[in-house]
Amino acid sequence: MGQVEFIEVTKRYGDATAGAVTGIDLVVEDHEFLVLLGPSGCGKSTLLKLVAGLEDITSGEIWIDGRMVNYEKPADRDVAMVFQNYALYPHMTVYENVAFPLRMTGVAKEETRQRVLAAASSLGLDPYLERRPEHLSGGQRQRVALARSIVRRPSVFLMDEPLSNLDAQLRVQTREELLRLHASLQTTTIYVTHDQVEAMTMGHRIAVMRSGVIQQVGPPQHVYDHPANTFVAAFLGSPRINLAAGRCESSPTGAIFAGPDFAVPLPPRLAAAARGAGDAAFGIRPENIALHLADPGGGAFPAKVSLVEPVGSDLYVNASTGSSSWTARAAARTPVTPGQQVWLVFDLEHAHLFGGDGAALT
Ligand SMILES: Nc1ncnc2c1ncn2[C@@H]1O[C@H](COP(=O)(O)OP(=O)(O)OP(=O)(O)O)[C@@H](O)[C@H]1O
Ligand SMILES: [Mg+2]
Repeated sequence: MGQVEFIEVTKRYGDATAGAVTGIDLVVEDHEFLVLLGPSGCGKSTLLKLVAGLEDITSGEIWIDGRMVNYEKPADRDVAMVFQNYALYPHMTVYENVAFPLRMTGVAKEETRQRVLAAASSLGLDPYLERRPEHLSGGQRQRVALARSIVRRPSVFLMDEPLSNLDAQLRVQTREELLRLHASLQTTTIYVTHDQVEAMTMGHRIAVMRSGVIQQVGPPQHVYDHPANTFVAAFLGSPRINLAAGRCESSPTGAIFAGPDFAVPLPPRLAAAARGAGDAAFGIRPENIALHLADPGGGAFPAKVSLVEPVGSDLYVNASTGSSSWTARAAARTPVTPGQQVWLVFDLEHAHLFGGDGAALT
């Protein structure tokens, strides 16, 4: 069992007037892999430290497995935390490092051996058991830190950007190992990252935070497809979603969104939401804008290419329709160059409308 429940949790450091986290209400289910995602300083590490007991809660309650843990010592909470800057004991071998938490709690020698070997093996560390940390690569050291936390078999893992010190290739590999580990151990995990690829690929659900407040919680694809506000819409997705300010208006032919230098007819789904909205923002992701080299008709927007970014598998093209600039995804090797005239077709079924306060209208 490893359910973690936050009830109206707020943390203010010292005499700060603003909370590092404010009014967090969240239930992380048993076995769940929940990713906390958000920009630097939004309160992700603070939230983990509150669960681990490394910081006191200012107000609210945290429950683990049906126990209110506000006043429990870190050691009694049955959670294991893995940090970005893992600290291994330099004078101990890998085996001794992994065995350390068990030795401290008086687990018998033979059981310790079995658990250390199982943890090391699940992370591919068998060949390094007798080595000292200084003779390991960064990725291997991070795996030792992970092994040291799983060997305790806690009911909750708290992981604070555990992969951010690794190079791109090792990151992907260790990410897969972590997912395999979670599939076999099924331990409830709260995982902090500001890497949205990690969030999208690892989380059962993601919680997007901003300035200490959770903006939206849900399965990654759902949050990507139905962002609750412009912040979430812009935070998930690379290149980021195109957002244009304007107004929702009615025209003789139906509802339209009128930007500074463009107007789009709103499909029924958006038209209903747009009624009476007034000032709004129109959002469309690069993959939902088709780029044409000749006018396809049907009201395509003529635009002038300002920047072409090949990323190998795709080509991202920035093009402007007057004062509005759009990023569109095109097929790799599409022959476009800056200055060229192109035509943009918006897939309005996948467009978003946000109200004046930034909240999604649909
Ligand atoms: N010990 C502390 N004392 C005072 N303020 C702190 C302390 N730790 C964090 N803060 C502040 O609380 C806010 C949240 O910090 P936190 O470390 O939780 O952010 P984060 O989301 O983990 O950021 P990052 O992605 O950079 O690690 C920040 O404004 C930070 O300056
Ligand atoms: Mg942090």
